[in-house]
Amino acid sequence: MEVNFQIYHYWRSECAMRGEKMKAWVAKMTEEQLDQEAIRKAGEILKSGGLAAFPTETVYGLGGNAFDAEASQKIYAAKGRPSDNPLIVHIARMEDLEVVARNIPDNARTLAKACWPGPLTMILEKTEAVPKETTGGLNTVAVRFPSNRIAQALILAAGGFVAAPSANTSGRPSPTTAEHVIEDLGDSIDCILDGGMVEIGLESTIVDFTEGTPMILRPGSLNRERLEEILGTVRTDPGLLAQETHTRPKAPGMRYKHYAPNADLTIVEGAEQAVVEKIRALAAKQLACGAKVGIICTDETRQEYPQGDVKSIGARSDEASIARHLYGILREFDGDHVDIIYSEAFDTPKMGQAIMNRLLKAAGHKRIEV
Ligand code: TXA
Ligand code: MG
Repeated sequence: MEVNFQIYHYWRSECAMRGEKMKAWVAKMTEEQLDQEAIRKAGEILKSGGLAAFPTETVYGLGGNAFDAEASQKIYAAKGRPSDNPLIVHIARMEDLEVVARNIPDNARTLAKACWPGPLTMILEKTEAVPKETTGGLNTVAVRFPSNRIAQALILAAGGFVAAPSANTSGRPSPTTAEHVIEDLGDSIDCILDGGMVEIGLESTIVDFTEGTPMILRPGSLNRERLEEILGTVRTDPGLLAQETHTRPKAPGMRYKHYAPNADLTIVEGAEQAVVEKIRALAAKQLACGAKVGIICTDETRQEYPQGDVKSIGARSDEASIARHLYGILREFDGDHVDIIYSEAFDTPKMGQAIMNRLLKAAGHKRIEV
């Protein structure tokens, strides 16, 4: 079916004016078997100023044409996100970096060669091509070349430059399945490419190259040790390590309370058996008061919790499984309407920094050490 996209957008805006909700169309596919027709249509939608959600290897993104200031404004409106929080420009050809960034330092090029396509976002000086609406008013731009083949095909079909934050409403956990995107944005965007559950489950590592020594603004699966192997010394934004508000993180998005479940979440840290006992005691006390209690544990400790809404996040022996399920579990607890959640800590060797960064934010930094 040929779609005239101008008429399509006119029709959508008419519906919006009448207060009618229009559901996004959804196309299922896999990276091995792309639905070329759906990708072409989604690309046309992006070219003509609409919004399309798509999978990446990290989380689902909500895409708009990166060079279209109005499309960026639509993204902020759909997410309910403050417009001073800049978007990431996604590319799918190495040479397109030059179109959006300038004065690119050699070490940034080295990192791009080593880690792109992949879960890495670099902050660089922006060119005139990128409107300030896309960068939240900044002179710098965040650029990422994702490895997911559906994402790459869509970016190319859209002309090469797609601005995309995570496809959740502001304040909710990032989506790791198309169902999460439908839950949050199904009524406010044009289409969703459904590539199933994502591979990693945490957002990309953000590295800033605009202030001398490269600095991690958001930890991700590409960890500091790996970055240092490639770049030598790397700093971590001191604002990330500070509890709460003492030092402000440089990435605007890391300043907001984020990924917050509706229930009150507390993390219990320490030796495994002591943690289990503490969570059991805390849960028993709350249950006795009539509260609905959620517990986040691992496959290894699942049997240790006799009561409460107990969910295993994955296996400690497979830390990638923990990362992949974190956001989904936080959403499930919202659906279960629990009042309070206790979670074990997950200081796993490779992804522990990124997992704990997200979990601590979700908990508003409430932690108990045993
Ligand atoms: O994995 C990801 O990066 C996903 C997928 C969709 O690619 N995207 C994502 O976008 O997480 P978003 O918008 O949810 O997070 C982008 C983060 C925000 O914290 C934002 O403040 C920061 O990047 N950021 C963007 N541009 C920046 C800039 N010029 N300087 C500093 N921080 C920037
Ligand atoms: Mg986000």
